[in-house]
Amino acid sequence: MKEELETLQQEALAKVKQTEKLKALQEIRVAYLGKKGSLTGVLRGMGKLSKEERPVVGEIANRVRETITSALDDKSAELNEQELEEQLANESIDVTLPGRSVQVGGPHLLTSIVEEIEDLFVGLGFEIKEGPEVETDYFNFEALNLPKNHPARDMQDSFYLTNELLLRTHTSPVQARTMQSLEGSEPVKMICPGKVYRRDTDDATHSHQFTQIEGLYVDKNVRMSDLKGILDVFAKKMFGDEREIRLRPSFFPFTEPSVEMDISCKVCGGKGCSVCKQTGWIEILGAGMVHPKVLEMAGYDSSVYSGFAFGMGPERIAMLKYGIDDIRQFYTNDKRFLKQYHQA
Ligand code: PHE
Repeated sequence: MKEELETLQQEALAKVKQTEKLKALQEIRVAYLGKKGSLTGVLRGMGKLSKEERPVVGEIANRVRETITSALDDKSAELNEQELEEQLANESIDVTLPGRSVQVGGPHLLTSIVEEIEDLFVGLGFEIKEGPEVETDYFNFEALNLPKNHPARDMQDSFYLTNELLLRTHTSPVQARTMQSLEGSEPVKMICPGKVYRRDTDDATHSHQFTQIEGLYVDKNVRMSDLKGILDVFAKKMFGDEREIRLRPSFFPFTEPSVEMDISCKVCGGKGCSVCKQTGWIEILGAGMVHPKVLEMAGYDSSVYSGFAFGMGPERIAMLKYGIDDIRQFYTNDKRFLKQYHQA
């Protein structure tokens, strides 16, 4: 029996030595020391031994158990440490590797231009208003003195959704909406930026969807000279102090008189070049004194109140400011184009 125990010990120690896995070590522990293990099996046979032999074999058996246990414990500590070291080695961070650069976005050029214009007018006391892009025929046309079948409706080819609903063709309906909401009781000083839609074929200067900024100032004693003064400040702030403006007579059904504003050409300084088609002037926006009928329809007494309105296209303004020659650049989202206008 002693020999049996000795062999068992040798066998177990040899196995422990060879093992490289914690799981296998656990299996050895069960196989030798477990309830159904080999050592337990040998000890069961102790009953057959004589009284004298029993303590001797018992002592050996205890020693064998201790030896195997401590061999298992040592090996398991060793394997645990090895595993930890491997893990640390695998997870270690190489701080000398180059970092991954983060791509930082920025506002779209159109957003920046609209914000620049908003800031300018907010500084002049204008409030910012909004209106729906799906508009009623009434606000888009009728309330602006463009009754059904009026020939001037042809100036703006529209996307109709139903007989009465369309995608707004300009931001001017927000003039009518704002005035109507005040029921003729208060002065108005607002601008409205927003998207507008026209049934145009897209090319370098046309887009079926583009942006406008509307302006409206209604109060007692608002005069044409107020309009001219505001537009002059706007042109100089946007394009530089040396720019001149001129107003040319024009026609819009909702303003009387109506004008178009030009600024002196930045490229040639007014002498005439290909950018200004040799005229020295570049058209910027439409404007005029609010038509008395428009004031009356919105509930304002046109013998007491007067006002001016203007409408401009921020794309056109950005194109002139930065020398961009194709309006589609604003909508095709070529990052190489857009990145040039990010201010860090
Ligand atoms: N709504 C006009 C257009 O889209 C512009 C405009 C606005 C003209 C306000 C006069 C006054 O062409």
